Amino acid sequence: MFFDTHAHLDDEQFTEDRVDVISRLREAGVELVINVGCNMQSSLKSVEITKEYDFIYGAVGIHPHDASDLNEESLGQLRELAREPRIVAVGEIGLDYYYDYSPRELQKKCFREMIGMAKELKLPIIIHDRDAHEDTLKIVKEEKANEVGGVFHCYSGSWEMAKEVMKLGFYMAIGGAVTFKNAKKVVEVAQEIPLDHLLIETDCPYLAPVPYRGKRNEPAYVSKVAERIAEIKGISIEEVAKATLENGKRLFGLTNHLEVRD
Ligand code: NI
Repeated sequence: MFFDTHAHLDDEQFTEDRVDVISRLREAGVELVINVGCNMQSSLKSVEITKEYDFIYGAVGIHPHDASDLNEESLGQLRELAREPRIVAVGEIGLDYYYDYSPRELQKKCFREMIGMAKELKLPIIIHDRDAHEDTLKIVKEEKANEVGGVFHCYSGSWEMAKEVMKLGFYMAIGGAVTFKNAKKVVEVAQEIPLDHLLIETDCPYLAPVPYRGKRNEPAYVSKVAERIAEIKGISIEEVAKATLENGKRLFGLTNHLEVRD
C-alpha cells in the first residue's frame, strides 16, 4: 500500500486518459494520493478531482513560477479553496532559483504569504525548493512554519541540510530522481534518513523513475521509488511502504481515512 504524496493529475498531459491513470494507480496498490496545485487554475482543478475520488486529497497554493498570480483577489479565492474539506495542505509553495521564472523578491513575498495562510488555516505546507536551500530555510524559520509543519517535496538538499529540516519537524519526500543512475546526493539522503521522516512521491507527470525515465510519470510508478529506497536501505519494500504511508497520513491528518477498496 503506497501513498503518492505529490501528484499533478490535473495536468493537461492527463486530459486524454485521466480515468485510466487513476484506475491503474489503484491496481498498483496506491492507497492515497495528494494532488498538488501550482496556481489558481490548477488549485481549482485539484479541488474538483478530490471530489471525484475518495482516495485523492488535495493541496492548493501558488508555486514560485506563478508568483505573479498573487494579489488580493487570488489570495481570497485561494483561502476559500483551502477551506474545502478534502484540501489537506497548502502547496506547492517555495522558491525556485534554478529557473527563476519569477523575480526572487516576488517569490519570497509569495512564499511568506502562503505560509501565513497555512498557519491561519492550520494546514501543513508542501515546499518546492530548487537551488534555494538557504533562503527557503531562512523563510521557514522566520515565518515559524514549523507550527504547521510540512514536507520538502522532491528533496534535493544534502544530508547536512536534512538534519536541519528534521530538527524543524519537517518531512522529506523522495521521488523518481533516487532511481536515476547518476543520483548521488539523494541516494545518500535516502540511506541516512530515518524512516519516520520520509515520504515518497511521483511529482507526475514529471520525473518518471527508472525504467520509465523520460516518459510521462503517473502515481502507479511510485512503487519504483519505494523499491529503490528499500534497496538502498537494505530493508523490504513493505517496510518503506508502511512507514511512508503512516507518515503521510499523520502529516496530512488522514489517520481516520477509511480505506475503501473497489
Ligand atoms: Ni510538483
